[in-house]
Amino acid sequence: MALDERLEAALNAQVTMEYGAAYAYFGMSAWFEAEGLPGMAQWMRAQAAEELTHAEKFYQFILDRGGRIDLGPIEAPQADFDASIDVFRMSLAQEQAVTVSINNLYSMAVELKDFASLPLLDWFVAEQVEEESSVQQIIDDLGRAGDAGHTILMLDRELGTRLGGGGEQATI
Ligand code: FEO
Repeated sequence: MALDERLEAALNAQVTMEYGAAYAYFGMSAWFEAEGLPGMAQWMRAQAAEELTHAEKFYQFILDRGGRIDLGPIEAPQADFDASIDVFRMSLAQEQAVTVSINNLYSMAVELKDFASLPLLDWFVAEQVEEESSVQQIIDDLGRAGDAGHTILMLDRELGTRLGGGGEQATI
């Protein structure tokens, strides 16, 4: 079944959103590097790498369905933050926006009876639960740490054990 034009456009917008998410995570990673928190920087780079794989999943799906790739512009990411917890709060807000976007894609696919899209979108629905949950956990931990530098350094060490791009999450 050919891809409906509306769904094709929405999938392309999702490709751009996922690349944009990666770009934003690289910006967050750069801030942590400058702040001397290499573990959190590594966590953000791993997250960026994962976002690239998300973009590629949608990109490939559009091609597999005989659609055309149409990449949109990406804004420069935020480069300055007041505190580590603010960076993760921005990450959570970004993930929540992605979840809304995936849900909208899902609704559109159902409305158009494009059932071939559903396995891909089901994967993303589950992925977003995991993404929001892991970021929320870090926000909670940072909130408990407050200004305790030693605890923040320990969290930084823990988060630095996350490997790149494969969906691994550090447990903290
Ligand atoms: Fe690809 Fe973190 O959403």
